[in-house]
Amino acid sequence: MPTLNFKGKSIIRTHHLSVPYRQLIPDVKKSLADKPGLHDNLIIHGDNLLALKALLPSFAGKIKCIYIDPPYNTGVGNGKWVYNDSVNSPMHQEWLKATVDIEDLTRHEKWLCMMWPRLVLLRDLLREDGVIFVSIDDHEAHHLRAILDEIFGEDNFIAQLVWEKGRKNDAKFFSVGHEYILVYARSVATLRQLKTIWREPKPGAKEVWEQYAALRKQFGADDKAIEDALQEWYRQLPDRHPSKALSRYKHIDKNGPWRDRDISWPGGGGPRYDVIHPITKRPCKVPERGWGFATSEAMQQQIDLGLVEFREDHTQPPFRKAHLRPVFEELDEENGIDLNGDEEPEAEEPVVVGLQVMPSVIYKQSQVAVKYLRSLMGGKVFDNPKDYEVLARLIRYVTASDHGDIILDSFAGSGTTGHAVLAANEDGGNRRFILVEQEDYADTITAKRIRKVIRGVRGAKDDTLRKGLGGAFSYFELGPALDDEAVLSGNTLPSYIDLARYVFFTATGEQLDDAQVNESRYYLGESRLYQVYLLYQPNVEFLKTTPLNLTFAERLPKSEKARLVIASHKYLDDDRLREMHIEFCQLPFAIYRFKA
Ligand SMILES: C[S@@+](CC[C@H](N)C(=O)[O-])C[C@H]1O[C@@H](n2cnc3c(N)ncnc32)[C@H](O)[C@@H]1O
Repeated sequence: MPTLNFKGKSIIRTHHLSVPYRQLIPDVKKSLADKPGLHDNLIIHGDNLLALKALLPSFAGKIKCIYIDPPYNTGVGNGKWVYNDSVNSPMHQEWLKATVDIEDLTRHEKWLCMMWPRLVLLRDLLREDGVIFVSIDDHEAHHLRAILDEIFGEDNFIAQLVWEKGRKNDAKFFSVGHEYILVYARSVATLRQLKTIWREPKPGAKEVWEQYAALRKQFGADDKAIEDALQEWYRQLPDRHPSKALSRYKHIDKNGPWRDRDISWPGGGGPRYDVIHPITKRPCKVPERGWGFATSEAMQQQIDLGLVEFREDHTQPPFRKAHLRPVFEELDEENGIDLNGDEEPEAEEPVVVGLQVMPSVIYKQSQVAVKYLRSLMGGKVFDNPKDYEVLARLIRYVTASDHGDIILDSFAGSGTTGHAVLAANEDGGNRRFILVEQEDYADTITAKRIRKVIRGVRGAKDDTLRKGLGGAFSYFELGPALDDEAVLSGNTLPSYIDLARYVFFTATGEQLDDAQVNESRYYLGESRLYQVYLLYQPNVEFLKTTPLNLTFAERLPKSEKARLVIASHKYLDDDRLREMHIEFCQLPFAIYRFKA
């Protein structure tokens, strides 16, 4: 795979390993929660390099979806995007001085040096079935794609979405009114294994279904009466109503509204077997491109399910029925989605209607988000906010509503992603967000916006906004580094109790009660959700040779609560741990790696 070389890369590649872990300190006053804790929605104030590292012990491999909108590095505004987090902070100054000449880096190299370690940490935070979206424009899109290929693996590239945001009439050559969202999976192989299919509701489909359901109630089993009434309903809809575009779903059977679809093999060259017409009992005309089902058995199965509609006689091929709400057998989950776009189309590919696959071009004017934020915050507080409805759509598309999926944005700005998660949860979901913002407006803009959205805004035109979306969040500051100079130099490891305080807090979001600690049993005490154990001694040999293994696991006292074991490594697989009601949390990698 061709790779991108840039000055500083050889050093920055492993930089994330030397970033110290830090404590996350809750700020009760800035939180919107009775008891701030890590189980909540989170807003973290601080440099995301440090914040992401601080999140690792509790969230490594647990984030379902990441959306980031990093500085685009447009070169205008005289360094308006913040370099100080990556290149000019004392930590980086020192690091850069020792390696490359800071003056010598181009602005693109600085940007790449800033992005690399953050993307590596973001990758480590993603679940195996997780997905990352990165907004970018032409200034860095090509560089970004190259380093994402390297960090995530080019096989995990999913799409480069185009977001068309409006015309720029002052352009000299072309009006470049679009930007991109690069989409990568943590592991496409895992998505395939899980037979993941991403779909979203077709606009207007819900309304058609509700109308159908009401008519079904009114007319009972009389499909013809429902059909007539539904067609009349479509006719009287205003032209711009989204359901109008679905008026081809005008036929009714026991599975609801359906439309006819072509039954031939896409692209031609399909099989040609006999399909007998049920009335004339003669073989139906075979479509020019051949039948759309590979075998006559597969075709017969569709006929038996009532998913094929014959014409009056055999002189014309029948139709496929495509239902507004897909009948289970219409979805061939085996086929999955073509994540690479490089496979032959399958003739039996699911006819999914009512649901639709998302196109790779999104149309939404940037001004909509600008105006919305202005009215929400009572004035202009932030340049170039993203559109929360677009982000909510992406989030809904790739997350489950009710699995407590976590969505992370480490360049949070005005908090659009947090708002989008709350909006996505209007489907009754329990998704959570983690936002990181380094500027002081983490409280005065990011958190303020989320407070407003949660509590509601008096006098707002939008109904939902007036009422508020509900919810809570905990606000955190970054605390001191856990692994100080001495630890990193490899001379000292923290004492049991020092480390215990840190890991108990980062893993549970609660403070350790020293009185409960029993070091000889490696027991730290109970949190709201867990009995917590820390398998640790400040001794490298111990760390190398003492994993969470079956013997240790079997000796743990039984408990109503799950047992959370924090250790340097484990010799038990996830299924076994789940059976034993044990959760494993890896000790901060840096401590182990630096000493090993
Ligand atoms: C382009 S804005 C994001 C806007 C956001 N998507 C919205 O809709 O409001 C980028 C944000 O990332 C923040 N940022 C830049 N570098 C950061 C860092 N190292 N750590 C945390 N935040 C950072 C900036 O302060 C800025 O607020």
